[in-house]
Amino acid sequence: MIPKEFNKKIRNKLIVTFLVPLLIIILISGVIIYFIAYRGLEEELSRKLISIGLAATTRFHADSIALLDPGDESTRLYRSTQQKLADLCKLTTINRIYLFKPDNTSLIDTENDIKIGYKYSHHEFDQNELSYALSEFQPISSILFQGQDGEYYKTGYIPIKTSSNGAIILAIQGNAAFYKTLSSLRRNMFFAIFVVILLIVTASLVYSQNIVSPIKNLVEAAMKISGGELTSEVNIKTKDEIGFLGQKFNQMRKNVLERDQRMQMMLRGIAHEVRNPLGGLELFCDLADKETDHRAVKRHLKKIREETATINRIVNEFLDFARTIGITVSKISSAEFLEEIGFHIAHDIEVDHILWSYTLTDKDIIFEADREHFKRVFLNVIKNALQSLDKPEKRMSVLVSRDILNNDTIPTDAVKFIIEDNGMGIKEDDIEEVFKPFFTTKEKGSGLGLAFVKKVINEHHGTIHIESKLKKGTKVVMVLPIEYKTQV
Ligand SMILES: Nc1ncnc2c1ncn2[C@@H]1O[C@H](COP(=O)(O)OP(=O)(O)O)[C@@H](O)[C@H]1O
Ligand SMILES: [Mg+2]
Repeated sequence: MIPKEFNKKIRNKLIVTFLVPLLIIILISGVIIYFIAYRGLEEELSRKLISIGLAATTRFHADSIALLDPGDESTRLYRSTQQKLADLCKLTTINRIYLFKPDNTSLIDTENDIKIGYKYSHHEFDQNELSYALSEFQPISSILFQGQDGEYYKTGYIPIKTSSNGAIILAIQGNAAFYKTLSSLRRNMFFAIFVVILLIVTASLVYSQNIVSPIKNLVEAAMKISGGELTSEVNIKTKDEIGFLGQKFNQMRKNVLERDQRMQMMLRGIAHEVRNPLGGLELFCDLADKETDHRAVKRHLKKIREETATINRIVNEFLDFARTIGITVSKISSAEFLEEIGFHIAHDIEVDHILWSYTLTDKDIIFEADREHFKRVFLNVIKNALQSLDKPEKRMSVLVSRDILNNDTIPTDAVKFIIEDNGMGIKEDDIEEVFKPFFTTKEKGSGLGLAFVKKVINEHHGTIHIESKLKKGTKVVMVLPIEYKTQV
């Protein structure tokens, strides 16, 4: 697992960097396109209204119409002009044309129920346009507005001069039918944008996955290497910088592995050279012991023998660690295995009055491992526990249970061993160090026990960690897959 403080995922960064600006651009362009279409259609309607309005002004005589008074609705002038304007409306699909005085009172309206002198109250919304039309004598159109029927309309105002230096105004009202088209365009556009966004999100997820998955492989490989597992290849096939990095990573791993192997070879060589004369030393001690009755000499010889035994033990630990591990897997019954371990430590348990117990949560758990190596692993951990016991009541326990290992995110059945003691514990700063070769706090320690343990556990694709409190005790937790697999 990648630690919490490294939770800023590259994939999220990629998505944010590319996706967010792209989405903003698409949304803004959508809005701009919509408004350009809207403005274009609106201007088109204004032009149409004004040109029809101008054509309409040729169909009547403004001077006579300006003189119409309320009650003149049945006059010939009124009726024929109203008819002409109504015909024009029909011909051009315009909704309404009306003529009115600058004081907003009606003269002629194609809407029959509006009489002469009617006050157009809605003109107050178009005050600006109307005063412009009258002061500049230029046609102008209102902004789009919603009629009582819910439809959108626009009005064009065309000022017409009368000979008495006055003016009347022709208003021409058209339906903005395009508004409907626009709202369906808006709907379609939103739908299209939604589909495009969906496509881009999917594409960017796939794309970022392609970039990120080799990086993930690299991270996993780095984690394995930093955990001391140097044998599995980094598998990145992309022909880009990450692929190159993977290749270099592999080279680095091989170099470290080679250096490790050279160091182990050297250790092996030294250990062998030391072990041979040690054998001789023990033999000569025995001989000298037999040939003397001198008590002081005998005492010295005993001391020499004890010291050689220590060197022998350390040399054996060197050899254990330095041995290139070849694994011979067999099925191991945990109950039987623990009996055997108990047998190995029976002497120490008895001499030091240690309260020792082991518990199996299941009846028996059968797992696959190299029996000899795993026995040494166990004995190393247990010896450390025994050596740490410094209280009057010395306690040590082993708990074996079933577990799940999440190796490479594929959960596998596993067996868990917890070896706990109430000994002197480990300093917090040292917990990280104890697995390193040659780290020891003991006067006659080799510092290779846990390095060997870690190496074997890695070979078995298992995990090991230590929890410890100074002066309270230590808990070593080892988890091994139930089934041994050569490559995980
Ligand atoms: N059960 C334990 N209780 C206290 N300290 C421990 C325990 N196991 C390991 N250690 C610490 O880890 C160190 C390294 O252990 P190890 O690799 O077995 O080397 P060695 O036993 O030769 O010192 C020990 O020196 C000791 O400080
Ligand atoms: Mg040890």
